[in-house]
Amino acid sequence: MSVINIALLGMGTVGTGVVKILTNNAHNISQKVGIPVVIKKILVRNLTKARTVTTEAELVTNMEEILNDPDISIVVEIMGGEIPSKDYMLAALKAGKHVVTANKDVVSKYGRELFEAAEASQVDFLFEASVGGGIPIIRPLKQCLAANQITEIMGIVNGTTNYMLTKMSNEKLDYADVLAEAQAKGYAESDPTADVGGFDAARKIAILASIAFGVRITLDDVSIEGITNISIQDIEYAKELGFIIKLLAIAKQNEQGINVRVHPALLPASHPLASVNDVYNAIFVKGDAVGETMFYGRGAGELPTASAVVADIIDVARDIRHHVSSRILCTCFDQKPIYPVNK
Ligand code: NDP
Ligand code: HSE
Repeated sequence: MSVINIALLGMGTVGTGVVKILTNNAHNISQKVGIPVVIKKILVRNLTKARTVTTEAELVTNMEEILNDPDISIVVEIMGGEIPSKDYMLAALKAGKHVVTANKDVVSKYGRELFEAAEASQVDFLFEASVGGGIPIIRPLKQCLAANQITEIMGIVNGTTNYMLTKMSNEKLDYADVLAEAQAKGYAESDPTADVGGFDAARKIAILASIAFGVRITLDDVSIEGITNISIQDIEYAKELGFIIKLLAIAKQNEQGINVRVHPALLPASHPLASVNDVYNAIFVKGDAVGETMFYGRGAGELPTASAVVADIIDVARDIRHHVSSRILCTCFDQKPIYPVNK
C-alpha cells in the first residue's frame, strides 16, 4: 500500500476545513502516518455548487461509487443529519471501511448499532469532532481518564449559543441578528433549532455521559431547556446582580442516580465558565483520582472542527498502515444504567 485513500461524505463547513488541512499539512501528515493520505472521492448533493477550495478529488453524488471502490479504506461522514448519514455509515462499516464522523445526532442515537457494525467488520469508528469541535474530549474521557470513576461533567458545549449570548451581552445585539451571524460563520446546525433549543448540547452531553459513566444515555434521558426565551433584558438584569447567563450541559452520577440536563444558568461573574466567550467551549470533568480537569477551545467552525476530524483520520490511517486490528473504543453505548436516570 503506497497511499491511504479516503472519501468524504460532505464538503460544507467541516468538509472544506478537512480538505484544507489534508492539503496544507499533507507532508506533515504523511510523515506521521508513514504514507500519504489522499482524498479520492467526495460525496455532495450539488456538483455545480461553487466551492471555496479546490481539490483533485472526484466529486460524486452517488454513495455506491464510494462503497464499491475497493481502494477507499476510510469514509469520513461530515454531511450531518440522521438520514441518510446513518445508513451510509452503516453501509461503509459493513463494507469493511473505517468510519470517522462529526455527527452527534447519529452517534447519540445510533451509537450502539454503529459500534456493533464496526466490531463485526473489525474496523475503527471514531467521532472526536462530535463534541466540543476542536477540543480533545472524547479520547481523553475514553483513554486518558479511564482510571477514574467520573462523577461529574459540566460545561459549555454549544458554540452557536455561546457566541449568541456573548454578543447579546457585550454588544447588545438582537437575538435574531446574532443567530444569523452564527449561521453565516458556519457554527450553527443546518436547522439552528437544534442549537438554540438546547438539543445539540443535549446530544453532546448524552455522548459524554455515556462514555464517562459507561452506560447508555440517550437524548430522551436529558432534561432540556434552550436559550429561546433569553432576552437582552434578562442578560442585563443578571449582569446588574453580578451574574452571567450561560447555556450549561451537566451530567452527574452518584449512588442516588444519574442526572443529565441542559439549561441556561446564572453564573457568578468570577466563575471560570463565565469568561468563556464567543464560539469557545469549556468542559469540566471531575474524576475520583484526578480531581477536576478542564478542556477549553473553539467548539465549532471550519478549521477547529476539521482539526478533530483529521486527527481521527490520522489515527485510523496509522492503524491501517501498521496492520493494527480495530480498536472499538466505546463499548458503553449498550449498557443499561444501574442507577435511575432523571427526566
Ligand atoms: P454543511 O451543511 O456546511 O455541509 C453539509 C455537506 O454535506 C454539504 O457539502 C452537502 O452537499 C453535503 N450533503 C448534505 N446532505 C447530503 C446528501 N444527502 N447527499 C450528499 N451530500 C450531502 O454542514 P457542516 O459542515 O456544518 O456540518 C457537517 C457535520 O459536522 C454535521 O454533523 C455537524 O453537526 C457536524 N459538526 C459541525 C460543526 C461546525 O462547526 N459546522 C462542528 C462540529 C460538528 P452540498 O455542498 O452539495 O450542498
Ligand atoms: N452547531 C454546533 C455548535 C456545531 O454550535 O456547537 C459544533 O458541534
